[in-house]
Amino acid sequence: MEKQTDLFAHKSKKWDISSRRVQNAKAIAEVIVKNIKLDKEMELMDLGAGTGLLSYFIAPFVKKIVAVDNSPSMLLEFDNKCDEFACETEAILKDITKDSIEGRQFDGIISSMTIHHVKDIAALFHKLASLLKENGFIAIADLDSEDGSFHSDNTGVFHHGFDRETLKKFAEASGFTDIHFETASTIEKPHRDFTVFLMTARKAG
Ligand SMILES: C[S@@+](CC[C@H](N)C(=O)[O-])C[C@H]1O[C@@H](n2cnc3c(N)ncnc32)[C@H](O)[C@@H]1O
Repeated sequence: MEKQTDLFAHKSKKWDISSRRVQNAKAIAEVIVKNIKLDKEMELMDLGAGTGLLSYFIAPFVKKIVAVDNSPSMLLEFDNKCDEFACETEAILKDITKDSIEGRQFDGIISSMTIHHVKDIAALFHKLASLLKENGFIAIADLDSEDGSFHSDNTGVFHHGFDRETLKKFAEASGFTDIHFETASTIEKPHRDFTVFLMTARKAG
């Protein structure tokens, strides 16, 4: 991966201390488990896995989770707690928008609070489809459209949440079917609440 600024370097060490983040990841994982039939043969990718909050809650249900993230500091935190995950793990330092992930095809791709950092969502869905086996699934959680006040600093934020219908169209254009949205959690901040959707879909066989 070409050297680039680690936008999460100043946040990684204390990321997991936020109970709001842990609760959000747990709530997302619960909705994933409710909607998708996971099994102990499955190898999943966690896109923008960060310190592994979502991976941690999904780990008991699958064989392996491959954490893909472009932040060395966040992946270091992921690796530091690899013994705590209830499945095999592997951490790969890659930028999903630029790097290829050679020779890998996953049963599913999970992701939490990452895609608002990716500028070109159409290209992202194409990339995700290429990384999935036939009938593989995506389970992607992020903010519903918001007013730009979720982050105190919007550096590296390309989308102030997402309109669900627009995301659905991007997913359809990349060959995904069975597209379903559900509100997975609500993040309460002092000035207002923000809802988080979970989008699930399947790569057409
Ligand atoms: C808001 S954090 C979420 C981390 C974790 N999923 C969670 O819910 O706690 C977003 C993560 O996405 C990663 N990320 C952002 N853009 C990325 C890209 N283009 N390729 C891979 N990872 C990316 C960041 O480094 C960061 O770890």
